[in-house]
Amino acid sequence: MFAAHSNLAQICSIHDLQALARKRVPKMFYDYVDSGAWSERTYDSNHSDFNDLLFRQRVGVDVAQRSTASLMAQTPVTMPVALAPVGLAGMQYPDGEILAARAAEAFGIPFALSSLSICSIEDVARQTHQPFWFQLYVFKDRDFTLQLMERARKAGCKTLVVTMDLPIMGQRHKDVKNRLSAPPRITATSLIQFLNRPVWCWKMAFSSHHTFGNIVGHAKGVNNLRSLAVWTSEQLDASLSWKDIQWIRDHWDGYLIIKGILNTEDLYRTIDAGAQAVVVSNHGGRQLDGAPSTIRTVAGLVKAANQQVDVLLDSGVRSGQDVLKAIALGAQGVLVGRAFAYGLGAAGEAGVTRALEIIHKELESTMALIGETKISSLGAHNLIIPDQFSI
Ligand SMILES: Cc1cc2nc3c(=O)[nH]c(=O)nc-3n(C[C@H](O)[C@H](O)[C@H](O)COP(=O)(O)O)c2cc1C
Repeated sequence: MFAAHSNLAQICSIHDLQALARKRVPKMFYDYVDSGAWSERTYDSNHSDFNDLLFRQRVGVDVAQRSTASLMAQTPVTMPVALAPVGLAGMQYPDGEILAARAAEAFGIPFALSSLSICSIEDVARQTHQPFWFQLYVFKDRDFTLQLMERARKAGCKTLVVTMDLPIMGQRHKDVKNRLSAPPRITATSLIQFLNRPVWCWKMAFSSHHTFGNIVGHAKGVNNLRSLAVWTSEQLDASLSWKDIQWIRDHWDGYLIIKGILNTEDLYRTIDAGAQAVVVSNHGGRQLDGAPSTIRTVAGLVKAANQQVDVLLDSGVRSGQDVLKAIALGAQGVLVGRAFAYGLGAAGEAGVTRALEIIHKELESTMALIGETKISSLGAHNLIIPDQFSI
């Protein structure tokens, strides 16, 4: 049965956690994570491009004392990794956002809560002690958007992550075919998917969190599945522009991160808008299919940023070695989405902790083998970099 988390020690990689999540999470929710937009070309290259970077092995360096501690978005962290905002994480595992936030807190890294989470801002705040980051979608209903920011502030959040690469929803074919919704619609196909995952169903029955916790009961007129479906389909704002970011800046006096930056024009607009950080991101390949991978893009953006904003990266990070490569190319830290979502689906809080342990060990061990003892010493000198990387 599901209880056997003791065998997590046998789990050696994020890939192992992914295989376990596939066995434990109902298909529609597993597919929701393991998918990219349209042809999935960007989704695939996000990860495979990391493999084009090789490490420069060094020997004869005293690496007995090593530390992965550093600073990420002005927060001291035990390693430069944060959990990315992942919508519907509470469908990977009951109370998923609370469990992931707790695992991140215990590990000493930031957790970013999605606007489209299952557990609400208040649910997560009640179950954690450290401030978490809040990810904001700027909804057409600007009063509701302001309310979300206010609720985050009241819950102790000091960092707002505004996602800009989703003016419209990218299409993942699997979601269309699975008729994804939260809570799920019961059809003959979905019923079979759930009957195949009885332990997930049983555990979910004991959770009180089954739908978008930040929206239902808060947004005007949204109180059931039907009105929620209408609201979410109508509320993405394709008119979102830099003027709106200025408006957000005027209403948020905390640390502001803009997520979804892939080129210098947008980077400069972010700096002009007064944000303190960017996440170089293509939304994990879920939005613009055909966009370049972030690892190919990051070095050029770090150079262009010229230390005026902190540069973080996400999309495709599946190991501590990937983290190290991103840092060596100049990123201050990385966010991981699927890497933690697979851990969550595999074994709840223990699974997220295992994902973080794996990433940490891979990062720290690789540092030893390339002759480095601290994060701040990592740089392009640690890598063999092909010409296609913008450096
Ligand atoms: C299942 C899933 C749901 C996501 N939901 C959100 C979201 O609600 N808000 C957001 O800003 N990004 C969202 N993202 C994007 C992540 O924050 C992050 O950019 C992406 O997962 C990074 O790529 P990776 O999964 O390869 O690490 C989501 C990603 C996944 C996989």
